[in-house]
Amino acid sequence: MDAVIDFINLQRDRYIDELKSYLAIPSVSALPQHTGDVRRCAEWTADELRRIGLQNVRLIETPGNPVVYGDWLGRNDAATILFYGHYDVQPVDPVDQWQSPPFEATVRDGEIYARGAADDKGQIFMHFKAIEAHLKQSGSLPCNIRIFIEGEEEVGSAHLDDFVRSHKSELAADVLVISDSPMFERGIPSICYGLRGIAYFQIDVRGTSTDLHSGSFGGAVANPAFVLAQMLAQMKDRGGRIKIPGFYDDVRELRLEEREQFRRLPFNETKYRKDLGAPKLFGEAGYTTLERVWARPTFEVNGLLSGFTGEGSKTVIPATAMAKVSMRLVPNQNPDKIADQFEAYVKKIAPKTVAVKLTRFQSGQPWMTDFDNVYVQAAARAIERGFGKAPVFNREGGSIPVVSTFQQELNIPAVLFGIGLPDENAHAPNEKLDLTNFHNGVIATAYLYEEIGRLDGAR
Ligand code: BES
Ligand code: MN
Ligand code: MN
Repeated sequence: MDAVIDFINLQRDRYIDELKSYLAIPSVSALPQHTGDVRRCAEWTADELRRIGLQNVRLIETPGNPVVYGDWLGRNDAATILFYGHYDVQPVDPVDQWQSPPFEATVRDGEIYARGAADDKGQIFMHFKAIEAHLKQSGSLPCNIRIFIEGEEEVGSAHLDDFVRSHKSELAADVLVISDSPMFERGIPSICYGLRGIAYFQIDVRGTSTDLHSGSFGGAVANPAFVLAQMLAQMKDRGGRIKIPGFYDDVRELRLEEREQFRRLPFNETKYRKDLGAPKLFGEAGYTTLERVWARPTFEVNGLLSGFTGEGSKTVIPATAMAKVSMRLVPNQNPDKIADQFEAYVKKIAPKTVAVKLTRFQSGQPWMTDFDNVYVQAAARAIERGFGKAPVFNREGGSIPVVSTFQQELNIPAVLFGIGLPDENAHAPNEKLDLTNFHNGVIATAYLYEEIGRLDGAR
């Protein structure tokens, strides 16, 4: 093992150069003009899996973007990891707010800045480098591994449920490992045991067939921007509670012990507020901030568009208004049921003065797991060896839709070991990854394979 760690310590600069090439590919899954780049990124990923010494490397087609697969199954007696991640990234807009171009990775103050640095290319690359170190130093891995990297996570993994169901034997493993989340805090590594689910909609409101002079027609017709605002205002009460009938029916209440665990975490609410630049925090009454973001559902407006928004003024009644909205869900809420309840509520509150159209986008199940299993313990030891500090256990507010599918279809434990940071700017301008965390992460991951290799496989 020492040789593996020495190897990693000597390769620091090469890792950064290679990661830069990976980050240079604009694999934005949401935008059709990047379809070619997305495929090129899948191919780069596959080539990398071959370079580091994996076997059976190939692209597997889906109705959408290809999945990249590779494995190393040379240890009949040891456990098998299924490693999941995504090579697609979020759009970069507003691009003028980036301090360096999003697809020209730039190192500043020990952090590498680029779209995908933390979410998720940097984190999957950490695993590639740990695999490479083992294979180059000893010609083998301490455990078996199947690598499964998809290209549609950032648009909801629509094709992955079917894919997992129809490729179960290729995915057979003892434990699922994912690195696609931030750690609790700089200097405080963590293992994540819960994610929120999601239901996403676009609301289109039409008032009239064309924009109107607001003097000639103002007063005679409903204004769709106003109607949309009124409908949105009916989604939550002043205490932040969501008013969609039935919305909370299946919400699993926080247990007292879990609330106490959250409270013991070194969370500084004032610093949190200041870092966000918020004058005052807001959320559902009766819950702490960590409870609100990890264990309570939300309703958010993600985008809002109507009327004249240019410089100066224009007297107009817009013909249409549009909003993108999403709900983050917690166990045991079901995204389809929530989506039905939302649609019914919108139909109920929509006035007859406008036409309202709802479009359903991606959804994802919430996920939560026990963390008293040997794999999580192995990961905790590996993290302590790599970071010099034992991890804390946390939940997260984000969503990785396929995790609950893996759980249901493969019925194996999951270890979510992320090395991002809360201020990594994922999905925002100036996304970054701390290079010390990356480097310690490669070491921790190399140890993780060793620790898991010591456990018996049930394959
Ligand atoms: N890596 C994130 C998920 C995540 C975010 C986990 C924060 C833990 C903390 C993932 O790439 C992501 O952004 N998922 C989307 C899913 C959506 C598009 C269905 C999300 O959460 O918005
Ligand atoms: Mn991600
Ligand atoms: Mn993401």
